This record gives sequence, structure tokens and C-alpha cells, in this order.
Amino acid sequence: MRTALCDRLGIELPIVQAPMGGAAGPALAAAVSNAGGLGMLPLSWHPAEAMRAAIRQTRALTDRPFGVNLVLAFPQDERFEICLEEAVPVISFFWGDPAPFVARAHAAGAVVTSTVASAAQARAAAAAGVDAVVAQGWEAGGHVLGEVATLPLTRAVVQAVGPLPVIAAGGISDGHGLAAALALGAGGAWIGTRFLATPEAQVHPQYRERLLAADEASTQHTGLFDVGWPDAPHRVLRNSTIAAWEAAGRPASGARPGEGEAVAQGPRGGVLRYASATPGPQLTGDIEALSLWAGQGVAGVREVKPAAEVVAAIVAEARTVLRDLGRLAG
Ligand SMILES: Cc1cc2nc3c(=O)[nH]c(=O)nc-3n(C[C@H](O)[C@H](O)[C@H](O)COP(=O)(O)O)c2cc1C
Repeated sequence: MRTALCDRLGIELPIVQAPMGGAAGPALAAAVSNAGGLGMLPLSWHPAEAMRAAIRQTRALTDRPFGVNLVLAFPQDERFEICLEEAVPVISFFWGDPAPFVARAHAAGAVVTSTVASAAQARAAAAAGVDAVVAQGWEAGGHVLGEVATLPLTRAVVQAVGPLPVIAAGGISDGHGLAAALALGAGGAWIGTRFLATPEAQVHPQYRERLLAADEASTQHTGLFDVGWPDAPHRVLRNSTIAAWEAAGRPASGARPGEGEAVAQGPRGGVLRYASATPGPQLTGDIEALSLWAGQGVAGVREVKPAAEVVAAIVAEARTVLRDLGRLAG
């Protein structure tokens, strides 16, 4: 199942583990890379030394390519320099213009991806020289750039920038989804929520339980969890915080029920009710009330299994789907 994207990224299988701030670390990224996909480290909020440590730890766990993701809504110049110094194989940019970074990344030997939410953004990223474009549909879990669904967005982006490799993101949890992405002309799938239900992901057990119990209608696209990252729409599981805010008549930020109240405690102190924060395993308190990031493909998340098995199962299922469809074509 090698695609042009695989050749560009130096991987065997067309699966990228989406960077997921707070949830994906060296163990998950290395497991996916070792399984033949591309593991990604989300390091947008790491202090310099912790960032170097995460990169080096990943390198100690795999000799295959992996990536680092930087969210450009926050200052990333120093972290970008660290990526170059540490010779990170793939650098991915989200929520901003990759243009200022591409030439230096290429000079350091890195492959560059940029996440987009429209064909126009894809064309701009291609003009900036990126090596692959991630088309993030609004089904996606976590922060969501736009409001176009994965199917029409992927197709429009492929038509806009092909043969530049396109990676489809949002709502893909199994081999059917991967096969659909390939059918749209994408070179692979960028999969987040499915990898939260692996032992390698750093998430609170109660968050994982909620993911396993959720279906395709359990998520909501909202801007509610804005403390720490304002004006950035996202998709989460519906929970008690959303329900209480709706019951209060959907007041504006600053006037919402329980505003400023810490609902959980962690190593870095209290986590506020409307915080943009991934519930990690070390938190205590009302985990259910926090930002439970999830995409609509959460319906396909039914069991916890090691990341390598997730990759193998998705590829095996996609092969079956593609074979069956081949027969249908006659
Ligand atoms: C818990 C979580 C955290 C995320 N954090 C980031 C991040 O730090 N950087 C980024 O580019 N995307 C982030 N995303 C978005 C993912 O990269 C990806 O676009 C999304 O997970 C794809 O949709 P899916 O969850 O339906 O597979 C996050 C998503 C989740 C679920």
C-alpha cells in the first residue's frame, strides 16, 4: 500500500498518527513509526529542554522517520530552531502560515507539511514549497481550522494541488476511512482520535472510557474551551460543561457558569472549567467536565489496543475494502 506520500515521508504505510497536544508523546509516535506509519510529536507548548528530551527519546525508540508538529497560533521560533538542530525528519505546521519556515527546514533536510481547511489555503501552502498538505475536515477532533467536511475538502485540495501529496484528516478511524481517503486521491490518512484508545496515548482513563462509549453523534463543534487558546474552534465530546452553558442561555466568554473555577488538579496546578487542555492520566477531579477532544470518527473507536495493532488493522481492512471495490468495478 505504498503511495507517493509514503515515498515523500520515507514510510511504508500511508498512515500518519496525528499530533495531539498533551496526548501523544515519544511512546505513541515511535510505536506508529515502528509499525510503518509516521508518528508525530506535538511539541507546541514544550519548554526547550523538554522538547529536546522528547525528540531524543523518540529517536532512541525508533530508527524510522517521525515528525514534530508546531501550532503557529503560538510563538514557535525557538522550537523551530530546535527541530533544525535535532535534525527532525518531518516538521508539520498547523494554524498559521508555513512560508517563513519552509526554506530553512528544507536546507536542514526536513520534509514539511502544512494543515489547511480550503483549496485556497492548500494552494498558498504549495506555493510556499511544502512537501505535503494535510486537508483537515471539520469532523476532526481537537482544534479544527475550518468548516468543510473531510470528503469535499480532500477532493477539492487534491484537485487544487495534486500531484503534491495530500493527507486526509478528520473522522478517519478504520480501514474503510483510509480506503475512502485514497479513493479521493489522498496519499494517506492523518488519524487522531483512534490513537487516543491505545495504551501508548497519555490520556486519563475516564476520558478514554468516554471515547469508547461515544458514537458519531456524541461530539460538538464549539469554541467553548477557549482558556489558553481563544478564538479557536474545536470538536469535543458533549459533556456537563457544555450542557450547563447551554442551560444558562449560552452566555459569552467571561460570563459563563463556573467561569474561573478549577475543576481538576494536575502537576501544574488547577485546570479551569473552560481550559483548552487535554485530560492527562495524572489529573484528579471532575475529568468529565474538561475538554474531551474527539472527532466524529469516535464511533469507530471500540477497543483499546496497542498502536502497532491499530496501524496493522487499519491497513488490513483497507486492503480488503479496496480489493472488494476492485471486484465491484469489474
Ligand atoms: C486530543 C487532540 C489534540 C490535538 N492536538 C493537536 C496539535 O497539537 N496540533 C495539531 O496540528 N493538531 C492537533 N489535533 C488535531 C489532529 O492533528 C487531527 O487533525 C485530528 O485529530 C484528525 O481528526 P480525528 O481526530 O477525527 O482523527 C488534536 C486532536 C486531538 C483529538
